[in-house]
Amino acid sequence: MSATALILAAGEGTRMKSSLPKVAHHVLGIPMISHVVASASAAGIERILVVTGHGADVVESLLASAPVECVRQPERLGTGDAVRCALDVAGPVSGPVVVLSGDTPLIRPETIRALIEAQTASGAACVMLSAVQPDPYGYGRIIRGADGSVRAIVEQKDLPPDLLGVAECNAGTYCFAGEALSAYLGQLETANAQGEYYLTDLVGLFVGAGLRVDAIVSDDPEESQGVNTRVQLAAVTAAMQRRINVQHMLAGVTMTSPDLVWIGPNVTLGRDVILEPMTFLYGDIQVGDGSVLGPGTRITDSVIGRECVVDASIVIGSRLADRVSVGPRAYLRPGTVMDDDSKAGTSVEIKKSHIGVGSKVPHLSYIGDATLGVGVNIGAGTITCNYDGKKKNPTVIGDRVFIGSDTMLVAPVTIGDDAVTAAGSAIAQDVPAGALAIERCEQQSIEGWAEFLRGE
Ligand code: UD1
Ligand code: CA
Repeated sequence: MSATALILAAGEGTRMKSSLPKVAHHVLGIPMISHVVASASAAGIERILVVTGHGADVVESLLASAPVECVRQPERLGTGDAVRCALDVAGPVSGPVVVLSGDTPLIRPETIRALIEAQTASGAACVMLSAVQPDPYGYGRIIRGADGSVRAIVEQKDLPPDLLGVAECNAGTYCFAGEALSAYLGQLETANAQGEYYLTDLVGLFVGAGLRVDAIVSDDPEESQGVNTRVQLAAVTAAMQRRINVQHMLAGVTMTSPDLVWIGPNVTLGRDVILEPMTFLYGDIQVGDGSVLGPGTRITDSVIGRECVVDASIVIGSRLADRVSVGPRAYLRPGTVMDDDSKAGTSVEIKKSHIGVGSKVPHLSYIGDATLGVGVNIGAGTITCNYDGKKKNPTVIGDRVFIGSDTMLVAPVTIGDDAVTAAGSAIAQDVPAGALAIERCEQQSIEGWAEFLRGE
């Protein structure tokens, strides 16, 4: 049966003490809300509604290309009201309705599926996820009857002293029967410590009406950790980091210190990849077999081929073919393409440029808006002067060109195949194939200068 998901993300997140809405805070390079949306999609849910409110413009722009519909909750009247706003837009929903919190990014697709399957099989009004939390403070607690059945959820702020010790907590993740949800939402009231419409009160209402409510007790309390404070944001990030790193290690990736490697969820790593400490892989990334990344490397939205080395460098929006060597301390900016066996060495910056097969930019250079052929050698300190103060101009360098150290290539300029530029030249005119271009003052050596200075 096809399920609908509602993701609640309208809350302000007061306890974050932030100008950013809570669900926009990042966990391993992507906003918290995007993790939840990805899990709902991966669980096979086709219709996903996200309830926005506080900072709605920000949250909705983060979701602009996600497969979701956004619904605004005009006022923060509680989780029950947020669900009502979503159902007003969704229309009458029959079949399972999954409710997720935008602030619970560790939720797994398999868990969402298990809730849907249990609800569909039993026809219960609600199947919820619970977990025994090591620190239950702040969560709604599951109250069970003498026979062990779920009777109600009581929020932290409404807990009488004798229930403070209950450790089974509501994960904020549920699968409802659509009809029961619509039928009982209108009965929620605000007579509680926070004066809000609590979605959690539905459990007591269902039980009172003789409807079935079940809880699946998770054996992984980490998965349902909610983020209300930045301390919890750090805890959730560490848990996600461990989960992702373990998967990669089991698939054949070496990490000498996994606590010092941070990998986002949309990263594919080949076999025998080695990740050294202080390496950050965020966004969409593919890395081929046998590449060594780090130490001290940050890569975003890039493709890295096989057997590459990226040492102490930053790579953003770039494509590296096989056996490419980068660093130490290189900065590859968006639009950089490096072909097989090419090199960007020490303190080199490359932007929007194509470096041909086997071409090398080994030391202290800036290469921008340039195309290098195959087998090019760029001398130390070479700069493409690509910006004339108004626009960016291209530099085209042919095959097997040798650029002498400290050459200024004043673009637009083209250097023909097999040409050579002399060290220290400012090259502002095209150089024909096979030529030597030299642009320097003639050197003078004035003898006896030291004696002259001493006044002799
Ligand atoms: C909620 C649950 C609690 C559970 C915990 C799990 C309720 C009343 N309590 O508490 O039982 O243990 O989650 O993490 O549901 N939101 C809206 N609109 C609102 C209020 C909240 O969209 O008017 C959204 C928030 O953005 C958030 C989610 O609902 O993503 C949960 O709200 P939050 O205030 O964090 O609830 P908790 O106190 O954590
Ligand atoms: Ca919460």
